[in-house]
Amino acid sequence: MEYDAIILGGGAAGLMCAARAGQRGRRVLVLEKAAEPGRKILISGGGRCNFTNLGTAPDRYLSANPHFAKSALARYTPRDFLDLVEAHGIAWHEKTLGQLFCDGSARQIVAMLLAECAKGAVEVRCGADVTEVGHTDGLFQVGADSAPSLVIATGGPSIPRMGATGFAYDLARRFGLKVVEPRPALVPLTLGGDDVLFRELSGVSAEVIASAGKASFREAALFTHRGLSGPAILQVSSYWRPGDPVRIDFLPDRATGWLIEAKRQSPRAGLRAMLREALPERLAATLAERLGCEGDIGNLPDAALRTAEARLAGWTFVPNGSEGYAKAEVTLGGIATAELSSRTMEARRVPGLYAIGEAVDVTGWLGGYNFQWAWASGVAAGDAL
Ligand code: FDA
Repeated sequence: MEYDAIILGGGAAGLMCAARAGQRGRRVLVLEKAAEPGRKILISGGGRCNFTNLGTAPDRYLSANPHFAKSALARYTPRDFLDLVEAHGIAWHEKTLGQLFCDGSARQIVAMLLAECAKGAVEVRCGADVTEVGHTDGLFQVGADSAPSLVIATGGPSIPRMGATGFAYDLARRFGLKVVEPRPALVPLTLGGDDVLFRELSGVSAEVIASAGKASFREAALFTHRGLSGPAILQVSSYWRPGDPVRIDFLPDRATGWLIEAKRQSPRAGLRAMLREALPERLAATLAERLGCEGDIGNLPDAALRTAEARLAGWTFVPNGSEGYAKAEVTLGGIATAELSSRTMEARRVPGLYAIGEAVDVTGWLGGYNFQWAWASGVAAGDAL
């Protein structure tokens, strides 16, 4: 059958794009390989879907071209998505750091997107695993269906057990588009060597400032049986490169010189007890042991305390890897933005071909930014095709 647009992938970006195009009178077909659409939405935000972030701004995204996302993000904002959520009567709340979640279930977001698709008479066909796309005389063919516009919205390869693959990249390359090397992002990091001792702290978490390269995040870090996780670590993982250190300030609220001051105030206290005031017991014990400052702090030279303080403010781990796509919330890299119009997401060299969502080389921070990109890029393409 002939359509105006065929959208590959019924995820966040694909459904949003389909709803917009359908409501503009376009005949739209969505081909989704899973048995139901929006499966990553369903598992997102612990089942409550962190659907946007009020702090959305281009500098919260990683891309080879940091300017690319500006246009789409400016034209479809968190407020626009919130208006839609409210129009559908979905109750929501702000958790922390501008993160908006459903009070109820992520299923409400999928139902909302499907209702919007239905308003536009969009055909959503599930169980349709697309492997081949033809292109002749300005028409894209997928099986027995064809259209002058084709949208790649098949996401990235993170969480392969859900069927995620690099199909978007393979397809883009077949059309001659460049792909920025993909790698796992928002992913736990693994520890080996000397750092392996910290894995004994599995389950312990603390609010820290974690840094990798020039990026720093103040959020919770969590020790796991394989290494480091928690929001602060997931955030820095997007900026971390193999071989690089990750620095952790375990005491972000302590001013320089606090240990010397503590020595004056409570000379009979041990370092472990001092650390316990701000950190969980097991973490305090491990850090004190590794610093090798035994006994009363009153008996320790100021120089030793200064060194301990500096190490606590910039503890260096050198992760030996990450937990990979199996645990990565998103994928960095993807279809090169240089190939696409930032206004419409259409490929410059292949008229009628569009790419949106995670498939594109635009990756957000943790906290609803990735869905906001999916909605905004979906709208940009949906309003143009
Ligand atoms: P998405 O992956 O949503 O959709 C792609 C669709 O294409 C899928 O339905 C897939 O089945 C289909 N497909 C793939 N290949 C196909 C083929 N060959 N033929 C047909 N269909 C095909 N983000 C956020 O902002 N807030 C959050 O709370 C979370 N939470 C979260 C939790 C977990 C566990 C994960 C893994 C990820 C998140 N994310 C998130 C990230 C967010 O889920 C992600 O950025 C968006 O889903 C990307 O939307 P897309 O539509 O681009 O891809």
